[in-house]
Amino acid sequence: MQDETSTSEGRGDAATAGNTALWGGRFEGHPTAFLQRYGASLPVDKRMWAEDIAGSKAHARMLAKVGVISQEDADAIRAGLDAVAADIKAGTFSFDVNDEDIHMSVERALTERIGAAGGRLHTGRSRNDQVALDDRLVARNLAARLHADAMALRKELITRATDDFGVVMPGYTHMQKAQPVLFSHHMLAYYWMFTRDCARLRDAYEAADECPLGSAALAGTTYPLDRRMTAEELGFPTVTPNSLDAVSDRDFFCDLLYACAMAQMHLSRLCEELILWSTDEFGFVTMDDTYSTGSSIMPQKKNPDFAELTRGKTGRVYGDLMGMLTMLKGLPLAYDKDLQEDKECVYDAVDTLSDTLRVATGMIATMHVHADRMRAGSHGGFMAATDLADYLVGKGLPFRKAHEVVGHIVLACEKQGRTLQSLSTDELRQFSDLFDDTAADAMNIDAIVARRNTEGGTGHDAVRAQLERARADYARDAAWDPVTIE
Ligand code: ARG
Repeated sequence: MQDETSTSEGRGDAATAGNTALWGGRFEGHPTAFLQRYGASLPVDKRMWAEDIAGSKAHARMLAKVGVISQEDADAIRAGLDAVAADIKAGTFSFDVNDEDIHMSVERALTERIGAAGGRLHTGRSRNDQVALDDRLVARNLAARLHADAMALRKELITRATDDFGVVMPGYTHMQKAQPVLFSHHMLAYYWMFTRDCARLRDAYEAADECPLGSAALAGTTYPLDRRMTAEELGFPTVTPNSLDAVSDRDFFCDLLYACAMAQMHLSRLCEELILWSTDEFGFVTMDDTYSTGSSIMPQKKNPDFAELTRGKTGRVYGDLMGMLTMLKGLPLAYDKDLQEDKECVYDAVDTLSDTLRVATGMIATMHVHADRMRAGSHGGFMAATDLADYLVGKGLPFRKAHEVVGHIVLACEKQGRTLQSLSTDELRQFSDLFDDTAADAMNIDAIVARRNTEGGTGHDAVRAQLERARADYARDAAWDPVTIE
C-alpha cells in the first residue's frame, strides 16, 4: 500500500521533519525517514480508525466518570474524536508521515483540534492495551462480516438444493464412480461445511470478546479506572483477567485466521469440483459467462477462471495463518514490536475470503446444471453393483458371498463392454439362481437413490428431511446478532 508514509525520502539518511514523536522528550536523535517507514504500521492500521476512535471515546467517558479528567475535557475529547472520524470518513484527513500508527495519528489530530484536553486522553492507557483493544474490535467486526458472507453462500446452496431436487448424479470415491446420489445431497454437503465455518467464526468472535483496556503498558495502572464501564460501553461482556496476557494475546486473531483458512479450503474444494464438472469429459455444469473468461488465441475456450483463482488464493490464506503463528511463537511477555505484524495477515486473509465467498455465491447461483449429463453419468461405472449384492442378501445370501457373485458379473460385463442394466434375468441367473425378474428394480438408478433413507443419506425422503434441518439451522445462525463498531 502506497501513501505518504511510504513515498518520502526513500532509503536516504535524511532525518524526519523533526522530533515530533509522542515520546520526543527522552530523545536527542531519531530514526531516519527510511527507518521511520520501516517501523510504521500506519499504512496498514489506518483501516482501524473507526475502532480506534470508538475505544478512545469510551476511555474518555470512563476517565471523566471516575474523576481522572473533567467532564468538560471528556466532552471536548469526544466531540473532537467525532470530528476526526468525520474527516477520515470524508477522505479529507491527511495522515502525517511522522505518525507511526493510527493511534498516534488520531491523537495528534485530536490535540491539534482541541488543544490541551487532547493530551489528557492517553491517561491510564498505553498503546499496548490500545492496540490490543483495537485488534479485538477489528476481529469482532471481521468475524461478523465473514459470517454474513458465508450465510449468503449457505442460502444459495439451500436454494440450489431445493430448485434442483430430484437430479441424480454419480457419487465418487477415489474419483471412481461409486454410487448415485442426489445433486441436492452434494450441494448440501457443502452447506454443512460452511455451517461449521460460521460456527468457527462465531468462536473467533467470542475469543476476541473481552476488553483489555486498563491493562496499560503491561502491569495495569495506578488510576482508578472502571474497566467494566469501558467494556460495557464497547459491548464487551467482560474484561481480560491478566494485564500481561491482555497486551500480548493475539489468540483471537489466530482463531479468526484458522476459521479463514478452513473456509477458504472448503471453497477451494467446491471450486475444484466445479472446474472438473465444467470439463467436456464431465459436462455436469456450465459456468455462467459472467464467471468465465476466454482465451486470447483459442476462440472456443471458456475457462472457469474464478473457480481456479479461488483454489489458487487458498495458499496465501493458509500462509496468513502460518505467518501469524510463527510471528507469535518466540515472543516473551508482554508487548513486543513483532506484534505489529499481526494486522497485515488478518486483513489479507479476511479480504480474500470475503471476496471469495461472494464469488462462490454468484457462481453457485448462476451455474447451469445439466441434469441429463449427470443422469447419463450415473448409468456407467457399474454403480448398481452394491444394490445388486444387497438384492442377493435379501434372497438369503451372506453379504461376502453376494459381493463375490456381483464381482464376477462386473468382470464379465467389463470384458464384454456391457452395463449391469443391460443383463437379462437369464444372463444374471448364470451367476446365481437367486436372481429373478425383480432384479431389474434393484439396478434402477432412481430406486437405488431413493432407497438410501438412513438419516443423513441420499434418499429423497432423507434429503427432504436434511433440507428441513438445513433451513432451521440457517434461521438459527441468521439470528446471531454480534456487536460491531460501525
Ligand atoms: N503500532 C503498534 C502495533 O501495531 C501499536 C503499539 C505500539 N506499542 C509500542 N509500545 N510500541 O502493535
